[in-house]
Amino acid sequence: MPPGEPWTDDPYAHALRAGRGPLYLRRMCQGTRQELLLLDVERWCAAPDAADTSVLRRCTGPVLDVGCGPGRLVAALAARGLPALGVDVSPAAVARTRSLGGSALRRSVFDRLPKEGRWDTVLLMDGNVGIGGDPAVLLARLRDLVRPGGRLLAEAAPQDVDERLTVRVEDAHGRHGRPFAWARLGTTALARAAEATGWILTGRWTADGRPFVELHRPGPGHPDAGPTATEGPDHR
Ligand SMILES: C[S@@+](CC[C@H](N)C(=O)[O-])C[C@H]1O[C@@H](n2cnc3c(N)ncnc32)[C@H](O)[C@@H]1O
Repeated sequence: MPPGEPWTDDPYAHALRAGRGPLYLRRMCQGTRQELLLLDVERWCAAPDAADTSVLRRCTGPVLDVGCGPGRLVAALAARGLPALGVDVSPAAVARTRSLGGSALRRSVFDRLPKEGRWDTVLLMDGNVGIGGDPAVLLARLRDLVRPGGRLLAEAAPQDVDERLTVRVEDAHGRHGRPFAWARLGTTALARAAEATGWILTGRWTADGRPFVELHRPGPGHPDAGPTATEGPDHR
């Protein structure tokens, strides 16, 4: 059988249903098997920890969690009374988010989404700056999703890296999906890529060894504000 679609038809779904790994991104290099990067499925399936809470505290609604996974943050935000939506390509991730009481849509961040240009806070956690493999394209897309003056809270890699890579999701038995493009950015590279795509760096902090940045889309009247997104109907 050919390897399945990334995140939807590979061992990720099984790990989310079980609530545990071990699960990895295997870095591919010209068809050879290379280094494994751990995917922290147990932490993603647990309640928010102190580092997550440092992010949740900074959220104002409505909040869009991009690549929400099993939904611990969306559920925690909903429990605090903040309107929050997770978006994820994985049916297992969306199902688990909903089972926790959160709202989630099975859709790519690059597809048409509800409230484009009107989100107050967008979250990009747990290495999700890698989504799509080209951080400039992703960060520009997120800038269009957030309202003018709104914020992006993004997690960086703990190492000082700026990498574009090809990876596949793989479990401890070597079962895997097909390779796809990914990226890993430390704080410096993430801040640089964000500023190049029109974000303003307004904060950075580390919690439990996990580095985060806070970025703002320039508000109305700012010379870099750019056009405001047209407000069309929601596509839920
Ligand atoms: C590294 S995991 C992060 C998990 C997550 N933040 C959590 O709390 O569990 C990457 C997540 O991004 C999702 N994803 C990958 N490509 C995506 C895309 N184009 N649009 C939306 N989600 C995507 C995957 O399905 C997966 O759930």
